Amino acid sequence: MENKSLGQEREQWATRFGFIMAAAGSAVGLGNIWRFPYLAGENGGGAFIVIYLLSVFVVGFAVMLCEFTIGRAGQLNSIGSFRKLAPRTPWWLVGASGILAAFMILSFYSVVAGWTMAYVWQTLSGAFAGANPEQLTNMFVGFITDPIQPIIWHAIFMALTVGIVVAGVKSGIEKWSIILMPAIFVILIILIIRGVTLQGSMPGVSFILKPDFSQITGSVVLAALGQAFFSLSLGMGAMITYGSYLNKNVNMPSSALTVISLDTSVAILAGFAIFPALFAVGFEPAQGPGLVFMVLPAVFDTIPFGVVFGTIFFILLAIAALTSAISLLEVVVAFIKDQYNVSRVVSAVSIGFIIFLVGVTASLSNGPWSHIVIPWPGTAGLNLFDFYDYFTSKVLLPLGGMLICLFVIWYWKPQNAFKEITNDGELNFGWLPAFKILAGVIAPIIIALVLLYGFGVIGTAV
Ligand code: TRP
Repeated sequence: MENKSLGQEREQWATRFGFIMAAAGSAVGLGNIWRFPYLAGENGGGAFIVIYLLSVFVVGFAVMLCEFTIGRAGQLNSIGSFRKLAPRTPWWLVGASGILAAFMILSFYSVVAGWTMAYVWQTLSGAFAGANPEQLTNMFVGFITDPIQPIIWHAIFMALTVGIVVAGVKSGIEKWSIILMPAIFVILIILIIRGVTLQGSMPGVSFILKPDFSQITGSVVLAALGQAFFSLSLGMGAMITYGSYLNKNVNMPSSALTVISLDTSVAILAGFAIFPALFAVGFEPAQGPGLVFMVLPAVFDTIPFGVVFGTIFFILLAIAALTSAISLLEVVVAFIKDQYNVSRVVSAVSIGFIIFLVGVTASLSNGPWSHIVIPWPGTAGLNLFDFYDYFTSKVLLPLGGMLICLFVIWYWKPQNAFKEITNDGELNFGWLPAFKILAGVIAPIIIALVLLYGFGVIGTAV
């Protein structure tokens, strides 16, 4: 199929359900279960979560619908869609920044996914049995700073990602996502029940439910907005690319809401699975990127058949990471394949290899290369791993999202966008004028203010 000339018989999702599962599969991943809890822990808990929810439902919804719209109208990858809808303008640069973001995100993402796979074996082998918080911390730090082990797992994960992307959109991406989502819900709920019934877990429940707004600073707000983009896979063309495989009669606004609700529920459930247990076991919330890897093994240790549950949990997390990673790789592969007419196999394998190499630098920067430090406002400088993460979620994704909204409403003119959103007038949306204000004015202004405030350009310093 991939050798057909452009525009003809583009691969499509088999069903609307399959599309929603694939988009939700892209959204739900390490962002929800690894990144969200540790950011909430570092940024004061409840108050961070409130700002996160606002970012998701106000800004996230606007950006996601605009991305679907651009992709389905353009019928091409992210750069190609901009070129088609806005020929001979610099708008394609938005797509190009998305390609850069895909490289940077997938490189560290795959490293963390590798940690997850390593934890499947560790759990299974009983390595965590009876370990106290200090020992769990040492095991985690010892593992991620190792120069070799994490890179082997990262290589295995990238190989799996490439394998699925090679299989193509329908057979590869869609199938995996459909099984995964229900399984994740079940295991999170088991973990929550265990967590809140542990002695001493109540401070964890209040940590989530009692927002302390005195904790809010510019950098907290920016972290929450960045996490909204990261978790919903927005701002870099992933949803443009997925939208381009969408058939013309799918209801995009309701699909966007479904995806957002699924993604947000998984993040909130993950919060409830982790914080009560964290307090019960005796960890500090501001644990950083090791949070889930240190806290959850301690929880599994208190559960009958904990080894079984723990193993299943890390397997599910690895699969969730896989359905997200394929969307990141697909952004670049779709571009190379559409634009240069190379096959899916060649583009997936070569891009995957380059991303593997960038990921090696991310992994090494946690250990032997930790002396390489990139200056960053509000921090003492970042290692490469943190730099790829911060620069994408706090700069490239929000900027990309802002430009995507502005493009749809101001450049492309609302009539065209509305024609696409309403499936050529078939769906009747009374709220379209409100959407124009949301996507054209409110969302871009919020993003711009958060960026300026977050970097201390306005208001107090970071
Ligand atoms: N959303 C995914 C997660 O939460 C990660 C991800 C996949 C992503 N595709 C993306 C992040 C595109 C930003 C942009 O784990």
